[in-house]
Amino acid sequence: MKQSFGKTGILCLVLLLTGMAAYALAQTQETNLAPKELVIKRGFTQKALQCIECHAKKMPGIVESWRSSRMSHAGISCYDCHVVKKSSPMASQCEGLKGTDTFISPMVSSKTCSRCHPQEVEQFLKSGHGALASSAVMDPKRGKLIKLMYYFEGCGFMDKLNPADLIATGKTPEGQPNYIRASRAAGCQMCHGTLVELGPDNKPINETWPAGVGTRYPDGSIGTCTVCHERHTFSIADARKPEACGACHLGPDHPNIEIYLESKHGQLFQVQGEHWKFDSPPGAWEPGDYLAPTCATCHMSGIGDLATTHNVQERLKWDLMHKKSVIRSGNRGDGAKGEPLMRRVCANCHSKTHTNVQRATLDHMVELYNKQWAAAVKMKEDLAKKGLLKKDPWKDPFLELTYYLWHHTGRRARQGAAMNAPDYAHWHGTFQMFQVLKDMEDIYNYRVKNNKIEDLSPVMSTAPY
Ligand code: HEC
Ligand code: HEC
Ligand code: HEC
Ligand code: HEC
Ligand code: HEC
Ligand code: HEC
Ligand code: HEC
Ligand code: HEC
Repeated sequence: MKQSFGKTGILCLVLLLTGMAAYALAQTQETNLAPKELVIKRGFTQKALQCIECHAKKMPGIVESWRSSRMSHAGISCYDCHVVKKSSPMASQCEGLKGTDTFISPMVSSKTCSRCHPQEVEQFLKSGHGALASSAVMDPKRGKLIKLMYYFEGCGFMDKLNPADLIATGKTPEGQPNYIRASRAAGCQMCHGTLVELGPDNKPINETWPAGVGTRYPDGSIGTCTVCHERHTFSIADARKPEACGACHLGPDHPNIEIYLESKHGQLFQVQGEHWKFDSPPGAWEPGDYLAPTCATCHMSGIGDLATTHNVQERLKWDLMHKKSVIRSGNRGDGAKGEPLMRRVCANCHSKTHTNVQRATLDHMVELYNKQWAAAVKMKEDLAKKGLLKKDPWKDPFLELTYYLWHHTGRRARQGAAMNAPDYAHWHGTFQMFQVLKDMEDIYNYRVKNNKIEDLSPVMSTAPY
């Protein structure tokens, strides 16, 4: 399928003039050209050129990063992604367009990309990076999480706001102090995404935009592709590097980048990575370009006979993030299908004997964690029955520790074991899991013996590290 640049280049220019090039190229041509400097003016319609020329003066940073993208060389410009119909709920006009019949939006969802990349978008939307990600932050059905953000972290409790009012719609509650949304806006939403709310001029309000991976747009579309393919370079080389994921997959509760960097794979990436080739064409990034996998290699990229996928659930067996680890099913994927796919990734570089050990280590860690979790649940249910739990879970040390058991220590143990990071699996994982469980046991025994909740408890103000 390799074509010489000359032929393709000419074909390119002709098609561009019709304004159809982008689509045609995406559909029919293998994208194996090195970016070349085309004379920008010849590739674009007069209307598209206006956006570029004015913005080159007003926001040179954006235009320069776009100029270096592969899409700019294929004739895709501001006009293709930002112009919307006048009837769009997101339609507005920038300074340069006032008085014209052209409308734009600064918001660009995966729906825009799907015009030319339908397969990537379809896969992405099936994954936890789609609707599931933002549901954690705005779905009224998940009221507990909204209560956490607005009521506890947003200090709604200090103003004695009614939690039910805060949860009602998934939208920012009206008439409340502005600071109750600070926690959501600065934290949760920047990773998960939220529902974008609009003011009368169709511009986003209430700090609901920009936002993270599962952002829900006012036209009903879902997802920002730029969390991995940063605007406006839209690079696949960058998305293949672990830093693309580390922006969100880090910290005490899902330290995936830390886990990776301490694994053998991450060690190799750190000492050799600068010599690896990250800009191979889509689907043609193979061992040899790199010697150890990055996050993308295992979870997304084509390797050997496996095709690239934008559904990050596709190669997973276990759910390693929720309270009890179960084999994935329903909207969390299909664990029975995922397991052999992940094994096929390893098979490119490891023997079956080697991979079998890894898979067994993971399965047994899941068993160990689930056993401790079951013990915690049993105590909790008993305390609940006896009326020995506080109403406010964040004032009850037993409940607080229950949270840390699964959300912090338990995740670190499971994910450390899954991705070959012994320090996370043990010292931040199992070692702290048993300590947390033993503290819970002490509190449980005290409460049952005395039939009361202790007056003052060693409340953990910070998580176990
Ligand atoms: C391939 C599609 C695409 C092209 C081409 C494109 N953009 Fe964007 N642009 C995006 C996406 C995606 C976002 C992020 C939107 C979001 O998060 O909802 C964005 C965001 C923006 C923003 C708002 C964010 C900010 O930093 O202020 C501006 C302004 C912008 N683009 C201008 C431009 C200009 C000017 C051009 C042409 C030189 C351009 N864009 C070309 C897709 C594109
Ligand atoms: C004559 C100059 C000019 C032209 C032509 C022009 N723009 Fe703009 N555009 C601006 C300026 C100035 C801003 C405002 C920057 C700011 O908000 O600080 C802007 C803002 C934007 C934004 C961000 C809006 C927001 O609310 O964040 C987008 C997206 C955008 N323009 C896209 C386009 C597109 C697409 C075209 C072509 C159809 C275009 N512009 C044509 C000057 C221009
Ligand atoms: C109008 C059609 C069109 C739209 C809309 C579009 N693209 Fe593209 N995109 C293309 C074409 C054509 C190429 C191939 C360019 C090449 O390889 O020469 C491409 C290539 C890419 C690549 C691969 C770049 C590389 O380094 O190989 C990425 C990533 C990408 N697009 C992301 C996006 C995202 C994200 C959006 C939405 C914000 C988007 N595209 C919207 C047509 C489009
Ligand atoms: C902008 C933040 C962000 C970035 C960047 C990001 N993720 Fe995620 N990822 C999330 C969030 C949030 C979730 C949890 C979604 C949910 O609520 O179910 C998630 C979930 C996942 C899951 C579990 C999927 C599931 O369906 O249960 C995997 C695997 C994953 N991400 C891998 C990656 C990889 C690999 C990269 C980089 C190539 C990456 N992520 C980049 C935010 C991000
Ligand atoms: C630094 C980015 C980041 C921040 C901030 C963040 N999360 Fe997450 N969250 C993630 C990632 C990544 C995952 C996936 C974890 C995994 O696979 O182990 C996740 C998983 C989750 C899950 C489990 C998946 C699901 O949908 O059931 C929930 C619930 C959740 N987060 C809610 C929240 C809430 C609520 C906040 C704010 C109070 C928040 N998160 C803040 C990145 C973040
Ligand atoms: C979690 C990170 C992540 C997100 C989110 C993401 N991509 Fe990608 N994308 C990648 C990686 C990694 C590759 C490179 C795959 C490989 O190695 O060939 C890629 C490759 C691509 C390519 C090149 C062709 C292909 O399929 O390999 C296109 C086009 C693309 N992405 C479009 C999109 C669009 C559109 C979205 C939004 C729906 C999106 N991406 C969201 C990580 C991401
Ligand atoms: C050597 C391959 C490999 C690499 C490299 C890798 N992972 Fe994983 N990852 C796995 C395996 C295997 C699992 C567990 C799969 C299963 O359930 O069977 C996993 C699980 C996960 C999960 C847990 C999903 C859940 O259930 O909560 C997330 C999130 C994740 N990886 C993200 C990342 C990120 C981010 C990186 C890079 C910083 C990364 N991974 C690097 C192989 C890898
Ligand atoms: C692109 C090749 C490649 C892929 C794919 C790959 N690995 Fe590795 N892996 C390596 C290399 C290279 C090392 C370092 C070997 C050494 O220490 O000399 C390594 C080391 C390891 C180690 C550390 C123990 C040891 O042998 O030194 C484990 C565990 C491991 N890999 C598991 C996996 C699993 C599980 C998968 C699939 C989910 C996987 N790897 C996928 C290349 C790969």
